[in-house]
Amino acid sequence: MAMNIILMGPPGAGKGTQAKKIIQEFAIPHISTGDMFREAIKKGTPLGVLAKSYIDKGDLVPDDVTIGLVKERLSQDDCQKGYLLDGFPRTLKQAEALEGLTKEIGREIALCLNIDVNKEELIRRISGRRVCKNCGAPYHIETAKPKVAGVCDICGGPLYQRADDNVEALETRLTHYEHDTKPLLDFYQKRNLLILLDGEGGSEKLFAEISRLLNEVRDD
Ligand code: AP5
Repeated sequence: MAMNIILMGPPGAGKGTQAKKIIQEFAIPHISTGDMFREAIKKGTPLGVLAKSYIDKGDLVPDDVTIGLVKERLSQDDCQKGYLLDGFPRTLKQAEALEGLTKEIGREIALCLNIDVNKEELIRRISGRRVCKNCGAPYHIETAKPKVAGVCDICGGPLYQRADDNVEALETRLTHYEHDTKPLLDFYQKRNLLILLDGEGGSEKLFAEISRLLNEVRDD
């Protein structure tokens, strides 16, 4: 079976951290709607201007915009042998659209992995996060320091703090997760696609568990 995977979880759960490891190990494209929006913001495109007005406050970008973006990306040739969706779907409307689209193009979801972390830890992670401006690799000022302060280990790019990584925006993001995204656990549970993962035990341990699950899908 193709490795068509969804990575879900609240802000700061470690989706981006795990995604970087997964795409390296399993050679599937990483489709992060958050990264796509940040790239558009960096380039100053009309999509970027629109997305920024929502993201900086911690609000969700409207469904029709986000669904259109993913539709186009998932239909590309490099997704034929699998893909990793990170941060999409986030609403019931997005999940339903994804289900319809993946059926239509014969690229149905094989697994939905949800990483769970308690709120206090999410706040600690988000408030200390620094991200590489070039490649997006995440760091933490206490627990995942780069070898040289302020410089990405992977590409040498400068590290910065995301505009939505502040207390007010984070509260809004957590509320959206509770109201809009958490109900999707039930959606994927009903389809027997959901796996719940404990995201508090360290990123290497979590990656070992994810690798085991993905190897099972690959071997099917
Ligand atoms: P997005 O970019 O998807 O952000 P998010 O979901 O809020 O998630 P984060 O990137 O903040 O966290 P993460 O889970 O990737 O954690 P990370 O690995 O970095 O979305 C941003 C915005 O775009 C949204 O708010 C919305 O406005 C918009 N958007 C995106 N998709 C959308 C959609 N589908 N619909 C509508 N709008 C959309 O780790 C965090 C920190 O913790 C790091 O410092 C890391 O070093 C550390 N860490 C990671 N793992 C561990 C671990 N196991 N133990 C200890 N520390 C760890």
